[in-house]
Amino acid sequence: MNLTILKTKSDLENWRKQNQQIHFVPTMGCLHQGHEALIKAAKCFSEEKSTKVLVSIFVNPFQFAKGEDFSIYPRDLESDCKTAVNAGANAIWAPTLETLYPNGPESYFTLQAPSSLTKSLCGSHRENHFDGVATIVMRLLYFVRPKKLILGEKDWQQLVIIRQLIKELRLQIEVQSIPTIRDKDGLAYSSRNEYLSPEERAQALTLPKLLLKESIQFNSIRSINLTKLRSDLEKNGLIVEYLETVDSKSLAPVNYDTTKLCLLAAAVHCGPTRLIDHIFLMNRKPIVAIDGPAGAGKSTVTKRFAKKLGLIYLDTGAMYRAVTWFIQKENINPDNEIELLKGLSNLNLDIYIAGSGIQHVMLNDQEISDEIRNPKVTEAVSRIASKAAVREKLTAQQKMIGRKGGIVAEGRDIGSTVFPDAELKVFLTASPKERARRRATDLMNQGFSVPNLQEIENQIQQRDKIDSTRKIAPLVQAKDAKKVITDGMTIDQVIETLIKMFREEIPEEVWPSNQL
Ligand code: PAF
Repeated sequence: MNLTILKTKSDLENWRKQNQQIHFVPTMGCLHQGHEALIKAAKCFSEEKSTKVLVSIFVNPFQFAKGEDFSIYPRDLESDCKTAVNAGANAIWAPTLETLYPNGPESYFTLQAPSSLTKSLCGSHRENHFDGVATIVMRLLYFVRPKKLILGEKDWQQLVIIRQLIKELRLQIEVQSIPTIRDKDGLAYSSRNEYLSPEERAQALTLPKLLLKESIQFNSIRSINLTKLRSDLEKNGLIVEYLETVDSKSLAPVNYDTTKLCLLAAAVHCGPTRLIDHIFLMNRKPIVAIDGPAGAGKSTVTKRFAKKLGLIYLDTGAMYRAVTWFIQKENINPDNEIELLKGLSNLNLDIYIAGSGIQHVMLNDQEISDEIRNPKVTEAVSRIASKAAVREKLTAQQKMIGRKGGIVAEGRDIGSTVFPDAELKVFLTASPKERARRRATDLMNQGFSVPNLQEIENQIQQRDKIDSTRKIAPLVQAKDAKKVITDGMTIDQVIETLIKMFREEIPEEVWPSNQL
């Protein structure tokens, strides 16, 4: 068995010295297939060969309340080592409480989990549970100092709290989550499933079954009936500790008619065993809005980001370019509103990505994908895009394309005007100098003549001014958009940043990554 077992703090320190980059899976042992999936994901996220996967096993006394199952919690280090190594772990760290706090009980301290995140769900029923989780996870992270921390979405509230703490403490640790892993019969894997007798297990199954049924019903009738669901659970012999709908990020109670991603979660007692489960409810698939000035690298990045996440890519800039090309071809005077409206009424625009990944722009059944990249179009597009009639027509078409979600749209006003309720809004930008340099490379690659860099930079600044000062749908960073300045970043780094941001908003369970 090629597994290093670390017990003491110096074991860990010596191992750390040899292995700089660590992906970390904290557990309380009694490893099951849910843990195996975490370890496999940690392995799969290891871009570099030298990255090692460390699994900790520590039954954390601080997260059990008096009368809970701390003393009988299943422990089997030998079997855990086998499971961990088979799943791809390189080392196991099984510290004792004394290892974590060498100065004894007098030195114990506790962290407090953010109170706004502990008011609902398990937080309001398990006293100090998340303070105990926060204390020990932060202690483990302090010793391990991993690059990535892998956690399960099964414990959604725990995941949200740990993410928040890592952010607040500005720890340079990436949190990656994996969806709830279920047994063939639908029961979510949990170490506590061991306590269930066959009869109780059959009863316990009604929890995932009824949650699933409710979410299927929600998809068609857009409402849920918590009273009925509670009584159905009880009719099946389960004692409901809580059954709540909360906002997936703030964990504040919400009505199910929210447009935001919402969590329907329950804790039930089945015989002596406490089980938790949840399901996400959402009115449509996720939407990502990527806005920013010209030349910030939006297109390349957005296209690849969309492909990686299996989302539809919508290039609204190409739509404005297509209209500009049409107006130039038809010799329409854009300042004559009647002429413009008449021209637009004869315009049938279609934009799609073919199986090959190449974007096609069709105007009145003619392919104009290359034509719209012409510098003559580039020069005029901002002016045309500032016309109310043009914006109205294209905004309506974009909203229509995105009504079911599952889309990444890039443009100037996506987060502010087209999809104001997008789950993730990004303002992608770079300094004018950097953008001029990129624009020159693009022009050269497309075979156009390349003006000098200063000239391009001036053009870019001029275009930014028009875009950000126009009355209709100006280029602005939406209030809730996250700014990414891409100077000095590679395309891959920008995409990785976007994926990380997406994952903070959208769980794997709602929109799975292809790579998992
Ligand atoms: O999820 C668990 O197993 C535990 O809460 C954790 C994260 C290992 C902390 O003790």
